[in-house]
Amino acid sequence: MTPVLHPARARGVAPGKVILLGEHVVVYGRAAIAASIDRHVSVQLSVSDKAPKAFADARLEQAVVVAATRMNIPRHGLDLSIETNLPLAVGLGSSAALSVALVRALAALTNRELDLEAICAHAYAIEEVFHGHPSGIDNSVATYQGLIAFQRGKALRPLPCRRSTPLVVAIGRSPRQTRKVVTELRSRWQDNPSRFEPLFDQVQELVEQGIDALDDGDLDRLGTLMNANHAILKQLGVSTDELDAMIAMARAHGALGAKLTGGGGGGAVICLCPSDADELARRFESGGWQAFTTDLGTHSRGKYASSKRSELQLDPNCRN
Ligand code: PMV
Repeated sequence: MTPVLHPARARGVAPGKVILLGEHVVVYGRAAIAASIDRHVSVQLSVSDKAPKAFADARLEQAVVVAATRMNIPRHGLDLSIETNLPLAVGLGSSAALSVALVRALAALTNRELDLEAICAHAYAIEEVFHGHPSGIDNSVATYQGLIAFQRGKALRPLPCRRSTPLVVAIGRSPRQTRKVVTELRSRWQDNPSRFEPLFDQVQELVEQGIDALDDGDLDRLGTLMNANHAILKQLGVSTDELDAMIAMARAHGALGAKLTGGGGGGAVICLCPSDADELARRFESGGWQAFTTDLGTHSRGKYASSKRSELQLDPNCRN
């Protein structure tokens, strides 16, 4: 039976994320560490009796159709607006945040309480529209939030964040698409698995050490591991000259570690910078890059969201 759409307006919110260690290899069954950040995507849905208006972006339209079909809600008459303070399509999990926010908004619209597992499963199906074959890390962190270790087919592992862990996130200027970078790496791997498999295993080892470093609150060690991870990401062919230059600048200005985060091929870098994150963000900005600071210790302390927490506050003090 088709559910009654009541109230006629509803909102859902979900956070973006950074991958601290392990992007790409997580697609190949290895583990990765990710954390939600204090940047969000908010989806507002409204229902009217007017004929359905397809969204200009074909993937967004398809995402709404997939979500509505899975949740047995008529697409007809659904209108959607998106507000965000999360930079989009730069490796910070915006499509997963949008997917989770959309599921939460649809649930609210039909007065349904979904558990986190159901939200995450719906969001994964929507993510497939954007990404093809995502590992599931982005929709998991957007759903459950906090600092997590993720490995396909294994239970999600919440990790402790023992101390303030300031990160600078800076955004490269070149346009990029995660789907393309993931597909190109897949074809390189298919051509030469014996070259790539050992690199994937090396990253898995870094991730395991990273879990220990977080548990010990050892930021020096975490920074070293991030640097080592970036070196392997370069060998995987997913970094760019611009990202490498940004990372070199961050290290020269006191970052304990810096690496690309997310899909790469452009997009965002993260820099672990306990000494003066604000100063490093300013340096990026004066170099013409968009940058902001976040702190995993403050925003990601293993607090699993309840399904009712669709009304997370957008951060009014964000700089971008
Ligand atoms: O670029 P993003 O934010 O979608 O992150 C992609 C992470 C990858 O590991 C490269 C892909 C995946 O599905 O895990």
